[in-house]
Amino acid sequence: MVSARPAVQALPAYKPGRNPADLARELGVERAVKLASNEVPFPPLPAVVQALAATAGETHRYPDNGAAVLTAALAERYGVAPEQVVPGCGAVMLCQQLAQSFNDPGTGLAFAWRSFEMYPLLAQVAGARSTQVPLVPSTPGGAPDTHDLDALAAAVDDTTRLVFVCNPNNPTGTAVRRAALERFLDRVPATALVVLDEAYREFVTDPDVPDGLELMRGRPNVAVLRTFSKAWGLAGLRVGYLVTEHPAVADAVRRTHVPFSVSSLAQAAAVAALASADEVARRVTAVVTERDRLTAALRERGLEVPDSQANFVWLPLGEASAPTAAALEARGVITRPFAGEGIRVTVGTPEEDDVFLSALDAVLDAARDDVRTGTPVA
Ligand SMILES: Cc1ncc(COP(=O)(O)O)c(C=O)c1O
Repeated sequence: MVSARPAVQALPAYKPGRNPADLARELGVERAVKLASNEVPFPPLPAVVQALAATAGETHRYPDNGAAVLTAALAERYGVAPEQVVPGCGAVMLCQQLAQSFNDPGTGLAFAWRSFEMYPLLAQVAGARSTQVPLVPSTPGGAPDTHDLDALAAAVDDTTRLVFVCNPNNPTGTAVRRAALERFLDRVPATALVVLDEAYREFVTDPDVPDGLELMRGRPNVAVLRTFSKAWGLAGLRVGYLVTEHPAVADAVRRTHVPFSVSSLAQAAAVAALASADEVARRVTAVVTERDRLTAALRERGLEVPDSQANFVWLPLGEASAPTAAALEARGVITRPFAGEGIRVTVGTPEEDDVFLSALDAVLDAARDDVRTGTPVA
């Protein structure tokens, strides 16, 4: 019998979120609402659909392995050289390439926790030492929800090769500010690459939350990771990119690229999306307006909700998180629970969010009734 590497056997099995069509069928309702994966609620951009149709006739050929047109478009948009840009098969694949390119077994990979769930898995597969620095409350007496950059800097040593700072942080939505991040970058040794994971950058409205690409300038050990999956609406096509200050960092990441893993459809769609930046900005504004309405509605219900700079909100419900998410699902609303910690709710359309709020009211009412009648809450 073959046996997988112990590190791989120890990986948690992938648990996909519920499919809304399956859930609707199971519940016998017309439609279930999925607010679990931080996609935007809009259909693909018209220019993207056109680009996909135009590219379909070329899919008998391999894609351009270097994604030259997309790389040039990104370099122009951000005022960097093409040598500083690495497109990848989703930001998640670039995370994996970063660990493969920089982490020998036994070296350190540091990040805050709770954060993007891929980070500890990358370390495990690479045989790296995972250093997880607990989040701290962003408001006095609140639940832990934001980076502790001083503690993260203190945890980085000369064996650390890679540090992820997820800003805004998934799943809590909080963001670190300019002064704190600059102080942090000044403290990290030059031998550790700091990756500012800005998957949700486009949704940031606080002017004091820095653009990683500006902070990166003049810091050769800093890189910025972004994706077309969120604001740009291309989650199903798998395309993200890394921008590095030092071209040698980009070169190292390119060496672990899985050949042809960014499809020609993904490349063409990303180029078309970049050319529709105005339309994307209008969509982002709509998401941000709805995020603020959803946050206010949740706070009116007496719930603690940290200020989100992303396209999702965080409900730190502690032990009630998993049962609450299960009860919401029984009412046709799929969210993303983190057992014992909180629930992440993606900002949907106003209609979807109203369905969520009504379901939540019903769940909270039932929980209050249970408390009144002494029924133990599941
Ligand atoms: C913080 C963060 N980084 C990276 C990713 C990966 O994005 P993708 O692989 O879809 O580009 C995600 C996706 O949820 C994310 O939340």
